[in-house]
Amino acid sequence: MRMMGNDGIAILPAAPLQPRSRDVEHRYRQDSDFYYLTGFDEPEAVAVLVPGRESGEFLLFCREKNPEKELWDGHRAGPEGAVRDFGADDAFPINDIDDILPGIMESCSRVYYAMGLNAEFDGHVADWVNSLRSGGSRGVHAPQEFVALDHLLHDMRLYKSRSEISAMRRAAKVAVAAHERAMKSTRPGMYEYELEAEFLYEFRRHDAWTSYSPIVGGGANACTLHYVTNRDQLKDGDLVLIDAGCELDFYASDITRTFPVNGRFSPEQRAVYEIVLEAQLAAIEKTVKGNHWDEPHDAAVRVITRGLRKLGLLDGTLPKLIKDGAYRQFFMHKTGHWLGMDVHDVGDYKVGDEWRLLESGMVTTVEPGIYIPNTRKYPAKFRGIGIRIEDDVAITAKGPDVLSKGLVKEPDAIEALMQAG
Ligand code: GLY
Ligand code: MN
Ligand code: MN
Repeated sequence: MRMMGNDGIAILPAAPLQPRSRDVEHRYRQDSDFYYLTGFDEPEAVAVLVPGRESGEFLLFCREKNPEKELWDGHRAGPEGAVRDFGADDAFPINDIDDILPGIMESCSRVYYAMGLNAEFDGHVADWVNSLRSGGSRGVHAPQEFVALDHLLHDMRLYKSRSEISAMRRAAKVAVAAHERAMKSTRPGMYEYELEAEFLYEFRRHDAWTSYSPIVGGGANACTLHYVTNRDQLKDGDLVLIDAGCELDFYASDITRTFPVNGRFSPEQRAVYEIVLEAQLAAIEKTVKGNHWDEPHDAAVRVITRGLRKLGLLDGTLPKLIKDGAYRQFFMHKTGHWLGMDVHDVGDYKVGDEWRLLESGMVTTVEPGIYIPNTRKYPAKFRGIGIRIEDDVAITAKGPDVLSKGLVKEPDAIEALMQAG
């Protein structure tokens, strides 16, 4: 509200319910921006911030209580609960919003609002402003400026508070336990979906959900970056790549490990694995305050290009291979992304044309990989090997804090854990 100033008003809609099929809806997930500001987890709600308004700065419009509907769909806070339990200064039935909100907007000159995300709500906002404009001849005042609220809010979300970091540490811990569980239970002949089931079980046991569809790719399926089919059988002698994280109390984890289905790396698998691991450790070392966003990626690219050259998969001088992006046929994604309430979290990666500098409180994934296409272009012994190692890293004054550090990633440690399973 301090950033908006006293002539601004912010308007945020709750996430709508999403149909899944026919008359069944997806489980409700509140919009991250809305939840960040309100902690309010119901659909059909609108949060309004009016800095400096004497009769209340934080207003919530929400569903009224309705015993009959609550019997089917569960508890509703109602306007009274919104004030009592969610800290709203005032709250109103959502059905009265057309009568109440324009009158509040009248005293504001700037509307902070995330335009273009919700077409239906865009229409309501336009209607409220137009209803004020049409009163112009009667001396009614209408706001003149629309400002993108996301710009301010997403910068706030990029810097995590201590309590947010602690929520993320808990989300990482649950995902670590699930990865351990899957590693220990893996046997040749199992199906990818059976490993996925271990994750769902461990997540739900801790009141968490998946933060994205788990990727369980055996053998060359690991080279399909967004493989979520998870239906193939796991073969003796193959690796399996698992990218799975959870969401706990609205904060996400995002972890990848790659390990041998039979519990032992082959020499070729180990050789490629060691390169990815070295790249990941080099990137984590660069995930420090004051470095720019792309420095961890540069470090990973360097180690990976050098490693691929040593394996004979790339040919040329190191500087030229890096300059030409020759590594991209094996490593085609970036080394990380912001992580927070959303798995690919909000926040700009550049300020103007320059990469952003890393600062305390930011959280990023570090996830280099090598994926060798399963084609005759490459030596048979390397074909179809896909390896990624992904951890969640908070930037702190004392250096990188790896939130997912409890999970093994040295090849010997992975083999030992799998033997124990
Ligand atoms: N699991 C999504 C990602 O790693 O970005
Ligand atoms: Mn991931
Ligand atoms: Mn990721």
